[in-house]
Amino acid sequence: MFIRKKSGSDIPYSEVTPKSLYMDRRRFLAAAAGVGAAALAGDKLLDLIHPGASAHADTRLQYSKSQYSTTEKETPYQDVTHYNNFYEFSTDKDGPAKLAGTFHPLPWTISVDGHVKNKMKLDYDAIMKLAPLEERIYRHRCVEGWSIVVPWIGFSLNNLINKVQPTSKAKFVEFTSVYRPSEMPGQRTNILDWPYVEGLRLDEAMHPLTMLTVGMYGQTLPNQDGAPVRLTVPWKYGFKSAKSIVEIKFIDYMPETSWHRAAPNEYGFYSNVNPHVDHPRWSQATERRLGDFFRRPTLMFNGYDQVAPLYTGMDLRKWF
Ligand code: MTE
Repeated sequence: MFIRKKSGSDIPYSEVTPKSLYMDRRRFLAAAAGVGAAALAGDKLLDLIHPGASAHADTRLQYSKSQYSTTEKETPYQDVTHYNNFYEFSTDKDGPAKLAGTFHPLPWTISVDGHVKNKMKLDYDAIMKLAPLEERIYRHRCVEGWSIVVPWIGFSLNNLINKVQPTSKAKFVEFTSVYRPSEMPGQRTNILDWPYVEGLRLDEAMHPLTMLTVGMYGQTLPNQDGAPVRLTVPWKYGFKSAKSIVEIKFIDYMPETSWHRAAPNEYGFYSNVNPHVDHPRWSQATERRLGDFFRRPTLMFNGYDQVAPLYTGMDLRKWF
């Protein structure tokens, strides 16, 4: 990503870090000893292999399989949980995994407000009861040029939207992430304006692919991946998928999002994955899947063609 804020320090676009460089020695030794992460149970062992993973993160979930899943190979759990963008903790890719152990995802409340008939405050149990959980294996493309394939667990956000019943005034949905500087060291810096804010048009939020996500790889979300509840919007660049959400607000104007505020010429509101519209400082035509050596072509809408009708008649160069 890019940092324009008061710190004045730009983080250059970096290539995908080879796994060997970001695995620390402890984890390397554990892996070398043939200890499979999936086979490990118990907080202490989990913490040794995944520093920062909380007790919350190893709670197994019950779910069904989804029709929306890709059959592409999943990216290993170890990579997805140790190569993160979560600026509330750190701007280093391995920082969130190291630092997110101080964060306590439970108890949790999401406020749903704005132009809706039924305003709600949902605690974690209420969120988990909104709809049956599904596992959806989605491609996830970061604006920086790397991608992963993740078995997320959650349900379509429209389950919640239908319960709160937006009024005719609601045109956009604003998502706000948690603000807890005492637990999130990145929020004690001014790298972004806190809290992190993202947004979707109401019809994008209603699209069945848009997910309220509570888990991955069969279990609840690790802190560094957005525990306990995040958004997953698979046809948009990863930064649209706000982590650790505490507020969902239905509004009649296009919200000012964190990355648009930081660099309006680089990060548009829509941010659909589009290989034909380059980032001002790099091409978006190809991507590197974590773990692969060669780059691969990036697909329009990240391959989720079913969302194309949402943008009929729009100039996607202008509305990037
Ligand atoms: N949400 C919050 N609150 N803070 C962040 O820094 N980073 C975004 C997005 N959601 C971010 C966020 C970016 S740039 C990406 S690519 C994805 O989270 C990364 O999600 P992952 O770490 O689970 O792969």
